[in-house]
Amino acid sequence: MAIAEKIKLTDYLPSDCAAGKTLWIGGEWESAADAQTFASIDPASGHELAQIAQGKAIDVDRAVQAAKVAAKTWAAMDGMARAAILRKAAELIREHRQALGTLDSIDSGKTISETAGRNVDGTAGMFDFYAGITDKIRGSVIDMGPKTTGLVEKEPYGVVGAISPWNYPMSNAATKIAPILACGNALVLKPAEQTPLSALLLAHILDQAGLPKGVFNVVTGLGAEAGAALVDHPGVPKLSFTGSTATGRRIAAAAGQNLKSVTLELGGKSPLIVFDDADLDAAASGAVTTVFMNQGQTCTSCAKVLVARSLVGSFISKCQEKVAAIKIGDPLDPANDLGPIVSQVQLERVKKLLAQGAAAGAKQVELKADYKPLDGGNFIAPVILTDLDPTNPLAKEEIFGPVMAVYPFDTDDEAYAAANDTQYGLAASVWTNSLARAEVARRVINAGIVWINCVHTLSLNTPVPGRKASGLGSEYGWEAMDNYMRLKTTVTMFGGYQGLF
Ligand code: NAI
Ligand code: MG
Repeated sequence: MAIAEKIKLTDYLPSDCAAGKTLWIGGEWESAADAQTFASIDPASGHELAQIAQGKAIDVDRAVQAAKVAAKTWAAMDGMARAAILRKAAELIREHRQALGTLDSIDSGKTISETAGRNVDGTAGMFDFYAGITDKIRGSVIDMGPKTTGLVEKEPYGVVGAISPWNYPMSNAATKIAPILACGNALVLKPAEQTPLSALLLAHILDQAGLPKGVFNVVTGLGAEAGAALVDHPGVPKLSFTGSTATGRRIAAAAGQNLKSVTLELGGKSPLIVFDDADLDAAASGAVTTVFMNQGQTCTSCAKVLVARSLVGSFISKCQEKVAAIKIGDPLDPANDLGPIVSQVQLERVKKLLAQGAAAGAKQVELKADYKPLDGGNFIAPVILTDLDPTNPLAKEEIFGPVMAVYPFDTDDEAYAAANDTQYGLAASVWTNSLARAEVARRVINAGIVWINCVHTLSLNTPVPGRKASGLGSEYGWEAMDNYMRLKTTVTMFGGYQGLF
């Protein structure tokens, strides 16, 4: 029996919301106006965790109206006051470490060691980081001559609509919530329908931290209903979305009709290049980490692995050794490194891509992970492929599952061409001991973030700016603040105005 089956949600969530009132609007827990709900499923066992309110356009509208009113109060507070609340939220997030971690684990299948560990650290860190910036927002003065002053100020948008994904539910939501609030905006969050639970506890925590009611609102529901309604709402001038490129394109097109500003963090098909002068053990560790962590469900996963031909055999042997140490099973067992895939739909998607690859001649390397799937769960063991035709859909599309594809290369130029041969441009990881090669790689690879002799090495201050079909704008760091403020220029003349007429 999965450990999640013994969990009582009332131990982790406010009682109203554990009982299905999961819309957080204007500081109250509410049901959907039409009372409709949907099930939140534990992907480790397939059993139902909770009934979640299925918000629609009418509920989104209520949330936007509440946010509109509260945005004025929040924007009028000075930065120091906003910072104090965000800092308090960070403290409370750390105090709720086990609860937040457990909710994300049972909802998404992520392991408790990750969710209650680095994901809670990252979530709390986001609030601390942006608390440190909210009181340091400045504008500038333009020299316009002796009797004229030009001012450029940064102002919040008012209400921001945030739509978050299921692969890092709480930390991805926090990546939006913290800078949006720090910039003085109110927001309406639509968490992914697969993983709404941790956002509910975050709402409670922000309330406890003293955030004025209505500044943060959550509308649970489906993408095509609540998500689309948030995108179309005329009271939401700014949208922030993380998810698939297909949905990102749809959102950008809809936002284009209303000329809304959008920040998009989308998919990737990121390369990892192992040159013949690389530290092979470190490179194999990097490859196994980036491909298999979180069951491959990471936007910056560098799963297209390009290896200098002379090293392919020894590289694969090292990967086999490292995979043998991975423990896969119940995500709530702290001994496990990996759990199931988030949903049956996603598991079927990964299996379909694997079948397409196999039909076209891709071969699977023999792997012996410590694999203990639970009955009814969406488990899949790690896969390493060779002989995959680069034109196969498996080689072209984002897999979002634990699948590494290894391709040999002969020349540096061949490796770079393969690395850039994708519609995406999110991340890359390059392994070499040559300074010259590292420098060339950094310049030639068309991706927002290039890791040299490391992978997924990030701090809260490190922007991740997607290119091409991987996104618009940049989350994390100071740069995220630019997403959520708009400029206003004021020109003041003190006497001496002369018009044309
Ligand atoms: P999705 O992009 O459809 O879902 C992400 C979020 O968008 C969810 O909150 C969903 O409710 C919302 N959404 C869906 N349709 C919408 C619409 N028309 N208007 C507004 N919001 C909408 O992704 P999905 O279907 O769950 O996963 C499919 C693939 O997307 C994955 O296999 C993976 O390749 C990619 N993905 C990438 C992520 C990333 O971190 N960049 C995160 C999640 C998925
Ligand atoms: Mg779930």
